[in-house]
Amino acid sequence: MTPNIETLPKVELHIHIEGSLEPELMFALAERNGIQLPYASVEEVRQAYQFSNLQSFLDIYYAGACVLLTAQDFYDMTWAYLLRCQADQVRHTEIFFDPQTHTDRGVPFATVIEGISQALRDGETQLGISSRLILCFLRHLSAEAAMQTLEQALPYRDHLIAVGLDSSETGHPPEKFQAVFDRARAEGFLTVAHAGEEGPPEYIRQALDLLQVKRIDHGVQCIHDPALVDRLVAEQIPLTVCPLSNVKLCVFDRLEQHNLKQLLGRGVCVTVNSDDPAYFGGYIGENFRATQQALNLDQEAIYQLSVNAINAAFLDSAAKHKLQQDLEAWRHTH
Ligand code: HPA
Ligand code: ZN
Repeated sequence: MTPNIETLPKVELHIHIEGSLEPELMFALAERNGIQLPYASVEEVRQAYQFSNLQSFLDIYYAGACVLLTAQDFYDMTWAYLLRCQADQVRHTEIFFDPQTHTDRGVPFATVIEGISQALRDGETQLGISSRLILCFLRHLSAEAAMQTLEQALPYRDHLIAVGLDSSETGHPPEKFQAVFDRARAEGFLTVAHAGEEGPPEYIRQALDLLQVKRIDHGVQCIHDPALVDRLVAEQIPLTVCPLSNVKLCVFDRLEQHNLKQLLGRGVCVTVNSDDPAYFGGYIGENFRATQQALNLDQEAIYQLSVNAINAAFLDSAAKHKLQQDLEAWRHTH
């Protein structure tokens, strides 16, 4: 029997909010803000979403973010994502944002975080979706710029659970940001990092040892280092895997070749997430559906992926217990 993905209560741990900006909203915000986009239509935007690697995506992704200027813009983008969460039975979501993409264009840090945070509060009260916010540093920029961004964030520390690391991985190892992450942990932030998406297993080791991360974002390249896989299993370090993203960015040629099932079978704490759903062709539900089909995952595997996400969430045990109860109800009615 095929597991019922539609009704599965979900937890998302790897979503860049700027990557949820659909072309329709991009056009609407461009018009509202008097910005000229380099595309004639929504269809033309979608046609441009053919990527050969991470960098080819990032170039288009940063260009798309230029339509975001006001707190209302950040609110509208975040609210649209939360409505998609509601449709996908997402109960809890942990969201990345890239402040430097905006502050480097002259948009104040306060504008960005206030717009996103207001939508997250409304998501909790109006939709019953709990959330956490994670500030990501752009690793292609300097460690000094990351440190300045961290300092800008300190007045908003109550809005933030963790800091992370994203953007161009190759040539920008975690060690570049060791001092920033030391400071972030000293200030009370948890830490995560993108590592082993395109980059080598060594970057995953650095993220664990030097940045002391609680989760690895992507991490699929660990497969080339069996001792590292053993360590991920022993320490139950969660991997926030994004299957459709990995195919779109040519990390795997086809979803059928993805190593998620193999890692899950080895006992790695693997989770399923959407990354940049507006760009990669699917929100978390579609990631679950497509992966279930491509890898022929059974009910037990879908259940385990969901247990992993609950365990990996930055929530207290009472909140995790509630999510677990929801999941058990799903398991027993299907
Ligand atoms: N990798 C690195 N940086 C990113 C990604 C990603 O998949 N999505 C948005 N920023
Ligand atoms: Zn990502």
